[in-house]
This record gives sequence, C-alpha cells and structure tokens, in this order.
Amino acid sequence: MDSKDIKLIIDGKRLDGRGFEDLRPIKMRVGVLKRADGSCYLEMGKNKVVAAVFGPREVHPRHLADPIKAVVRYRYNMAPFSVEERKRPGPDRRSVEISKVSREAIEAIVMKELFPRSGIDIFVEVLQADAGSRTACLNAASVALVDAGVPMKGMISSVAVAKVDDVLVLDPMKEEDNYGQADIPFAFFIRNDRIESIALLQMDGRVSKEEFVQALEMAKRGAMKIYEMQKEAIKTKYIMESEGEVNEIE
Ligand code: CDP
Repeated sequence: MDSKDIKLIIDGKRLDGRGFEDLRPIKMRVGVLKRADGSCYLEMGKNKVVAAVFGPREVHPRHLADPIKAVVRYRYNMAPFSVEERKRPGPDRRSVEISKVSREAIEAIVMKELFPRSGIDIFVEVLQADAGSRTACLNAASVALVDAGVPMKGMISSVAVAKVDDVLVLDPMKEEDNYGQADIPFAFFIRNDRIESIALLQMDGRVSKEEFVQALEMAKRGAMKIYEMQKEAIKTKYIMESEGEVNEIE
C-alpha cells in the first residue's frame, strides 16, 4: 500500500484517538536499579526504556580522561526484541548517531567542570520501541542523572513533532512516524522552570518555515508538560525513600 493511501487523521483525531497536541501517556519510576548510581524506567506510549547512570567515577580506559572536566558517555541501545523485526544486537549507524546527539544534549546540562579526570556514563536501553525512543531515552536519562546526584544546570525534556496528513502532531507514534511527511525530534534545556535553549533538533522529511515555527512552539509546550512529570517522579522517589520504601521494581 502506498503511504499516501494511509489516513492518519480521521474526523480530526489521530489513529489512537489523540488530539493534535496530546502527548502519549507517560509513566516514570526513579531509582529502579540497585547497582546504578541513578536510574529511571520510563514509558512514553508504547516505548519502554530504562536509563542507568554511573559516576562521576574513574574513567576507563584512563587515557580518555580529561584533566579539566568530566567525560560524559551516552550509549543508546535497542534490545533485539524491542522492535517488530528482530534487531541485530550491537551498535549500528542509527544507534551511534542517536548516542552522539543525545550525549551532546546531555552535555549541555551536566556541570562537567566540577569533576576533572572523571567520567559519567549513561546507558539507555530500549526494551520496546514505538517511535520517539530517542526522546523517551533522553527524558529517562535526565531523570536518572538527577537520581545519581550529578550536579546539573537544569533538565532535558524531549519530545518530537510530526507532520501527518498536512497537520502538525505532537509526540508521534509508530504509524505517524512511518507514514507521516516529517518527524522532528526536539530536546530542550530547561532551567528555573523555563526553556533556556534547544539541546537537540533533528529533522526527517520537509516542513515549511511557518510549520517549523509552529512545530517548535508545540514541542516547547509538550516538553514543559514532560518536565513537570519528571520533577514529580523525582519528588515521588524522595517521598518514598523518606518513608523507608524502595522504588525498585520487584
Ligand atoms: O525511535 P526514534 O523515533 O527516536 O528513532 P527512529 O529512527 O525515527 O525510529 C522510529 C521507530 O522505528 C522506532 O521507535 C522503532 O519503533 C522503529 N524501528 C524499528 O522498527 N527497527 C529498527 N531497527 C529501528 C527503528
């Protein structure tokens, strides 16, 4: 079937019943992994991801250490069973690219200069993917960094906007990503409850200048909602901890 034959907007609603500017349901749980310094399990629609942060700690191999700041490493990895067609295990071009742009986004918020000669390692594992997995991972990683107690200038909140059937929609799911006209993942650096700058911006497909400006505004509103959920998830962990409960998944 030609992608033009697939209708993604029916009677003003998306295929999963969402309005144009609705996020998928989001769930977060902080501190789920015992061995990591900080961790977060996150669901964004059908995406299921887990982020684990280690450090600041000694860098291995040692020659990678930087005498004036911490080295931040970010590994995005998809489980072979996370997608419909089995994904060959190990890194590929896509995961290397996602790891690079995500690391650059995270580096904007980490106070690396406080930890010379050390390393901060962020691992994100995609257990189930349904479009927007890089945005889900960034949201989880940002929360896991807070959980690890890594000093940061702010938070990263991330969401994509897509163009489907000639309209812009927030947080596209798989069908919209596959058959849409454009997909634009954004991540924002948020400080003091305000968006400070764009930390990640990619684009697949084409949109007009006006559409891009609209997409940016839509993504900003979406990211602010996610940011509030990230803060809430972190608070929940500390409340549970103060009551002697553990937030690990049993
Ligand atoms: O996940 P994200 O939107 O950040 O990245 P993408 O490269 O635009 O991939 C979109 C979606 O395609 C993923 O979320 C997966 O659901 C799917 N995909 C897949 O089925 N098999 C792959 N090897 C890679 C991606």
